[in-house]
Amino acid sequence: MPDIETAKKQIAELRERLSYHSYRYYALDSPEISDAEYDRMMVDLRSLEEQHPELITPDSPTQRVGAAPLAEFGTVEHPKPLLSLANVFSDDELLAWHKRISNLVPNQAMDFVCELKMDGLAVALTYVDGKLMRGATRGDGFRGEDIKQNLRTIKSIPLAVPKNAPRKFEVRGEVYLSKKGFEKLNRERAAEELPLFANPRNAAAGSLRQLDPRVTARRPLDIYIYAIGYIDDPSVKAPATHWEMMEYLKSLGFRISPYSAKTANIDEATRYYHRWCDWREKLDFEADGVVIKVNSLALQETLGAVGHDPRWAVAYKFPAIQATTKLLDIGINVGRTGSLNPYAILEPVSVSGVTIKRATLHNEEDIRRKGLRIGDTVIVQRAGDVIPEIVAPVISKRTGEEKEFVMPDRCPSCGSEVYKSADEAAARCTNASCPAQLHRLVEHFVSRNAMDIDGVGEKIAASLISNGLVKDASDLYYLTKEQLLTINGIEEKSANNMLEAIDESKGRSLERLIFALGIRHVGAEIADILANHFGSIDALSQATEEELTQIPAIGPKIAGSIVAFFQKAVNRSIIERLEQAGVALKEREGAKKDLPFKGQQFVLTGTLASFTRSEAETRIKALGGGVGSSVSKKTTYVVAGADPGSKLEKARKLGVKIIGEDEFLKLIK
Ligand code: IVH
Repeated sequence: MPDIETAKKQIAELRERLSYHSYRYYALDSPEISDAEYDRMMVDLRSLEEQHPELITPDSPTQRVGAAPLAEFGTVEHPKPLLSLANVFSDDELLAWHKRISNLVPNQAMDFVCELKMDGLAVALTYVDGKLMRGATRGDGFRGEDIKQNLRTIKSIPLAVPKNAPRKFEVRGEVYLSKKGFEKLNRERAAEELPLFANPRNAAAGSLRQLDPRVTARRPLDIYIYAIGYIDDPSVKAPATHWEMMEYLKSLGFRISPYSAKTANIDEATRYYHRWCDWREKLDFEADGVVIKVNSLALQETLGAVGHDPRWAVAYKFPAIQATTKLLDIGINVGRTGSLNPYAILEPVSVSGVTIKRATLHNEEDIRRKGLRIGDTVIVQRAGDVIPEIVAPVISKRTGEEKEFVMPDRCPSCGSEVYKSADEAAARCTNASCPAQLHRLVEHFVSRNAMDIDGVGEKIAASLISNGLVKDASDLYYLTKEQLLTINGIEEKSANNMLEAIDESKGRSLERLIFALGIRHVGAEIADILANHFGSIDALSQATEEELTQIPAIGPKIAGSIVAFFQKAVNRSIIERLEQAGVALKEREGAKKDLPFKGQQFVLTGTLASFTRSEAETRIKALGGGVGSSVSKKTTYVVAGADPGSKLEKARKLGVKIIGEDEFLKLIK
């Protein structure tokens, strides 16, 4: 083990190099080293920090996801309000805006910066003494929520900025989810039977407002910075134009949009807009317009704002990508847990170059809410590559021939009765061995994010089931070559490959297996948390609802579903058969270390004599515990120092254990 001084030096050096390369990779999209080299440095840093936990600081690149779940977000005030933008929808309106502001500052040359208007969420990041101190949502412009722990998980947000950065400053930008990331997330949610996000913006908002930063960390969020909020440092000379300001931000390590352009006059700005009307489809994120900003910051100042909108900038919105067509019929898919999922069958229509024949309808509720009838003329909408959806029926086109949709009372796959409980949106097939459910379940089991069994795709799964070879997922592990060869289209070579892939999947990680089992409400994220907590299927299967709800991120709904799953004899027998076949049901030895504070939540209040607040937090985290900012039922200990605050009161009320500094010192020893 290197002595502390050497470790300190090595750690500082690694952090600096990692931060530089992460800037090249995440902010500039232009890495200088391979991913493997980067990972190696990260491993080195982690191992040094493990040997010297006292040297871990919150701005270390290893600490992006270190924070514990919160009970709620704190509110913060924006020192300078976050404004919104006035919209224009046509060239004429844009020219009128230009004329208005030109009249306010006559005889002044005016150039512009054109930027894409990202459709995400505005956030403000505050840096003090080189470190990210605060990260807040826009809120109402004057007050937002402190979501720093979640923002820290976005890799293109620097946790620390170079020494020449202002002592205190705020930057503003848009957090967004890529179209690909959005689709992947919704695919996972569909598998978990969770409500789908309507668009990437909602998905980004949902991801940012997670109380558990580990959930946010798994969502592929990104950010473009588009402004400086303020600079509070007299020694720093602020840039003179917006364009220079963006260059300056880039030099400080922020990710800025590569699509911006400086235009000498408003006609050029108009051309920029029209070019992007066509090109935006090719972007991997959703842009809902172009923002045109007066370049000179002095002119911006003179022009000022009216109400919430600055006069010096305007959003020229893109037209929505919509079309009208006919709703021919409503079809039904049976999901993995028996839910009957309606979908729209449409008269094919081309929406910005893509033919749409189907659209999601989520559930019966969705159909009622939109007031759809079969035969209606409907407005359909596509946003980029996102699954098309029906916006609304065109009531004026009704002929009286349209029919109300009725949810079938029999499962379209097996004819069994359908049950709809009062507390959920979906109607369900009541037959546990419904072939459609089985299909979805096996498809889910073999899918990429689950057991990842290559070669057993949707079609093969369907044949295996219809031939009676597979009655549940465990049967996959008992297939023989002879059996496979009886299936049409499977030859010797593909049979061998399949068996090999099935065999290989026996060693998949515990979180994958938990996910693959298809327990309702247990998606990849929850599976990961469960695997970490329990370490084996055996331990998980014995957990009670009380035990489960103790885990942050697991509420009564998920807990109930897990317990119900393991109570069913069919499921227990599937697990038994998986085990007999040699599927790993435990976390591999040494895969994850069992830290003494694992699963424990701490809240600190008052002043400790032996530590600063952040030292105490670091120690708790190094031992596997979490530190929250407010007391809730999920808090394990409240550590009370001198002069404790209202948290003590709350802990007493909730019956949370309160310990003093001495006891805390004992615990960490
Ligand atoms: S400038 C006062 N630039 O649009 C200037 N905003 O309706 C306001 N947005 O809350 C911000 N891309 O969330 C600016 N390139 C961009 C933007 C952008 C997206 C969002 C931002 C803001 C909203 C204004």
